[in-house]
Amino acid sequence: MKISVCGKGGSGKSTVVALLANEAVAQKLRVLVVDSDESNSGLFRMLGFDQPPVPLMELLGGKKGVKEKMSQPSILTAPQIFLEDISPQHMVKKGNLTLVSIGKILQVLEGCACPMGVLSREFLGKLRLKENEIAFVDMEAGIEHFGRGIDASLDSVLLVVEPSLESISLAEKIRDLAAGIRKSLWAVLNKIPSDSIASRLKKEMEQRKIEVVGVIPSDPAIFEAGLTGGALKGGIAAREVGKVLDFLLSKRSR
Ligand SMILES: Nc1ncnc2c1ncn2[C@@H]1O[C@H](COP(=O)(O)OP(=O)(O)OP(=O)(O)O)[C@@H](O)[C@H]1O
Ligand SMILES: [Mg+2]
Repeated sequence: MKISVCGKGGSGKSTVVALLANEAVAQKLRVLVVDSDESNSGLFRMLGFDQPPVPLMELLGGKKGVKEKMSQPSILTAPQIFLEDISPQHMVKKGNLTLVSIGKILQVLEGCACPMGVLSREFLGKLRLKENEIAFVDMEAGIEHFGRGIDASLDSVLLVVEPSLESISLAEKIRDLAAGIRKSLWAVLNKIPSDSIASRLKKEMEQRKIEVVGVIPSDPAIFEAGLTGGALKGGIAAREVGKVLDFLLSKRSR
């Protein structure tokens, strides 16, 4: 099962990915986290790694190398990619948790991020998971990934919504984009300060026909980890995300 985690900038996508990954590992699944965000680089810390993986893009000669191959029918030579096929050089791993990164923007004037988008789309399209494996994709903020077709090969879209009008409006757009590629979509409300805000936001989602499958409170432990770059573990947010994972697993077709 491959799940796209998306939403507004700063809504908590990476946090939700890291919490879901931890919960899935606790449930004895083999977990692949794919960092598809070309700007932010801190996901490895949230997951408790000391260093980030070398981006897959480097395997292909960097952005320039991928750009040169973009006119070819495929960039990655393998027709299918299994977890075992990912080179140890391009992942960080502890136990059943593996993190790979597509590519990062490194320099000024280096050009657009299209090569990252193309590589993300191809890697995720060729990725084959077994029964006991699950992948979470930490998307870049906003909706450009839909335009680039990155979500096309994924099974479902998990939308992270924070209590702001901007986030609610974006949720509506993402609902339509996900429907356009026939993906099931569920929302997780994040950074929720009170029950009354949870109710208000749930109502907003209900009016927009978006099913809410989790409510993650504002959690001081997550805030602190975000400030210091610590790993996310335990706590109320993790418990709520555990329920979200159970829901996602109940929807799995294989
Ligand atoms: N439930 C929460 N309680 C408290 N702080 C939170 C919570 N969720 C996220 N945060 C904090 O909000 C900030 C943004 O979270 P995060 O990086 O996960 O968002 P994002 O959507 O991945 O952002 P970006 O769009 O920049 O990739 C971080 O500092 C994080 O620690
Ligand atoms: Mg992020």
